[in-house]
Amino acid sequence: MEDYVLQMQHIIKEFPGVRALDDVCLHVRRGEVHALCGENGAGKSTLMKVLSGEHTDYKGKLIVDGKEQRFKGIKESEADGIAIIHQELGLISTMSICENIFLSDEICSRGLIDWDEEYRQSRELLKMLGLDISPATRVGNLGIGQQQLVEIAKALKKDVKILVLDEPTAALPEKDSENLLNLILSFKEKGITTIFISHKLNEVMEIADTITILRDGKTITTRPKDEFDTNSLVSNMVGRELTNRFEPRNCSIGDVVLEVEDWSAYDAVNDRWVLRDINLNVRAGEIVGVAGMIGAGRTELAMSIFGALDQNVSGKLKLEGKERRLIRQPKEAIEAGVYYLTEDRKRLGLVLTSDIAYNSTLASLDNITDHMIIDKDRELELVNDMIGKLRIKTPSVLQKVKNLSGGNQQKVCIAKALLTKPKVLILDEATRGIDIGAKNEIYQLMNQLVEQGIAIIMISSELPEILGMSDRVYVMREGRISGEFDNKELQVTQEDIALKATGGKTT
Ligand SMILES: Nc1ncnc2c1ncn2[C@@H]1O[C@H](COP(=O)(O)OP(=O)(O)OP(=O)(O)O)[C@@H](O)[C@H]1O
Ligand SMILES: [Mg+2]
Repeated sequence: MEDYVLQMQHIIKEFPGVRALDDVCLHVRRGEVHALCGENGAGKSTLMKVLSGEHTDYKGKLIVDGKEQRFKGIKESEADGIAIIHQELGLISTMSICENIFLSDEICSRGLIDWDEEYRQSRELLKMLGLDISPATRVGNLGIGQQQLVEIAKALKKDVKILVLDEPTAALPEKDSENLLNLILSFKEKGITTIFISHKLNEVMEIADTITILRDGKTITTRPKDEFDTNSLVSNMVGRELTNRFEPRNCSIGDVVLEVEDWSAYDAVNDRWVLRDINLNVRAGEIVGVAGMIGAGRTELAMSIFGALDQNVSGKLKLEGKERRLIRQPKEAIEAGVYYLTEDRKRLGLVLTSDIAYNSTLASLDNITDHMIIDKDRELELVNDMIGKLRIKTPSVLQKVKNLSGGNQQKVCIAKALLTKPKVLILDEATRGIDIGAKNEIYQLMNQLVEQGIAIIMISSELPEILGMSDRVYVMREGRISGEFDNKELQVTQEDIALKATGGKTT
């Protein structure tokens, strides 16, 4: 008989207007890496929240280690050896690593926190994860990759039987992702079972033993990894064959719309140049990719153009051939037809507790306001139109954004951008955490936008999409442009870019 560490049987979970899980079954063998795949909104995170006891009003059965359970909260599932690392990290950035690891679970002796013991254990955990830093380090000073590891350390401080990672690598640079995947494989040797959720199908194919596919809240199939290839995985996820990801564009490229010259930004606090002597332009109907490693200054470049960077910015800014004074706040940028879509949608892009309509029109209220009064009918009409065009999956335009799946939240950010009718659209990691079907939709949408004459600057860490979408590519390194490529005939290679991004030979 199979040895299952977890069986979830006929799980049904409803939210108002949405049946998020519709008779889902998940059977996970002891010690395996089990990948959970599906499009945005398929129900993956919801299923894991049923497991963790965050959702308690569901139908169906949960059997952990042969015993039926019905957890009433995270504490209970944790006590049973289940640890979940969510899509959104939950660390407190002003606290130290050690404080975070033991948050609300402090080790006490005689009514006082036993710091020595907490530090000792923290050091051990960090060592196990290959992190060579002091447990006293403030979490806010760590990169996302390291924060991720702190979350894992927090999970591992107890005896973990089942570790759930919900899109752990979505925001990680390649190197950190690789480390994390190796870590998961090393957990496997220790007998820990991992449930792994990722839209990066190459990672799934690399580490999973078994794959379960969800679509529209239903289990489509559970099979050993070896029975899938990327194509069959995708077609099971989306329920149809996907055609060519990057379709050729046939659009005429016009005049330069935005140009920066000798563009620099100086960070006085840390006495360092964030951006140095950058010359960049983008034309109407053109997609310009900006590649580079994390920390190369790509986001800073975008924010500085958008008037959202605190540092001292200098240089020349030209819009449609005319030099103008530098933009000092996003409102001015939007009025000038420049929109920046942030990479940090949760913190900067959305008001999570408000609805889709509110969020979508937030940057373009002028268009729907008459004598200081918002025309609600017009707002709903515009936003419903966007929901249709972008295929945002939601029961209603009045759904709170925090209740949408990650990918659909991103589409709301795009709706918000488009409603400002930008001439220049700067996209920062716009397809991060987005499933492959929705990614294709965004690519198609970008093609439509440039065909209408919009200029797009696309910052991305995914080289395939940079190469597949861009007419030209700039590569940034340490705050400077280290390379520029013409990509009309799609002749640029990943190696070309990597070389410029790292400034040396790649191995
Ligand atoms: N708290 C909630 N209230 C209302 N609806 C919700 C809530 N949480 C999730 N949903 C809905 O349930 C469905 C499944 O969402 P879920 O977050 O599980 O998707 P997912 O597979 O994790 O997607 P993604 O890959 O985008 O993270 C979606 O339609 C979502 O809008
Ligand atoms: Mg999710």
